[in-house]
Order: sequence, then structure tokens, then C-alpha cells
Amino acid sequence: MTAETLLRNCWYAAARADEVTPDAPFARTMLGEPIVLFRRMDGAIAALEDRCPHRKAPLSLGRIWDGKIQCNYHGARFNGDKAGAAARKIVAQLLAQGNARAAE
Ligand code: FES
Repeated sequence: MTAETLLRNCWYAAARADEVTPDAPFARTMLGEPIVLFRRMDGAIAALEDRCPHRKAPLSLGRIWDGKIQCNYHGARFNGDKAGAAARKIVAQLLAQGNARAAE
């Protein structure tokens, strides 16, 4: 199957459960879109676009810290359950602090 034969807004398996560990982000491209999967503190799997909202660094190159994915570039962290509002807040903090580390 290719990205051209798959429908958007449908459910697809992105990974096997054992591929997404608490230790490291897991990158996957689906429908031509880069995504990153990781396990939160409660063991739930979260998925985000694999681009940091700050400067577009791939989040999959970051690390997992306290159940959040941490961007390897400036250190912003995202928990994956309310990414939109949290990401805007974190990016605003980074811009205000001149790219100093910010955490949700
Ligand atoms: S690019 Fe991710 S925190 Fe700046």
C-alpha cells in the first residue's frame, strides 16, 4: 500500500505496541507525514507531528523525559495530550527567553 492508496481521517496501525518504549521516541512516516510516537508516564502512547513547533527540529531526535518528549534543539517538552495549547505556550516562552530551555 502506498500513501496514494490510503485514505486520510481513517484509523491505521502506526506501530506494534512493543516498538514504542518509554525510553526513546519512535519515528514513522504515514501518508507522507512524519510522526513521532512515545509513551507518556501513564504508559499511554502519544503521537505528534515529528516537527517541533519552535524551529521545526524533528522531535524524534529528542528524548523522553518524565513521560514527555523533549526537543533536542532547545529543550522544549511536550506531553502529547494537549499539544496545541501547550506548544503555543512553550514556543512563546522560548521566544521570550531567547531560546532558553522551557518546560510545560
Ligand atoms: S526547535 Fe525545538 S525547542 Fe527549539
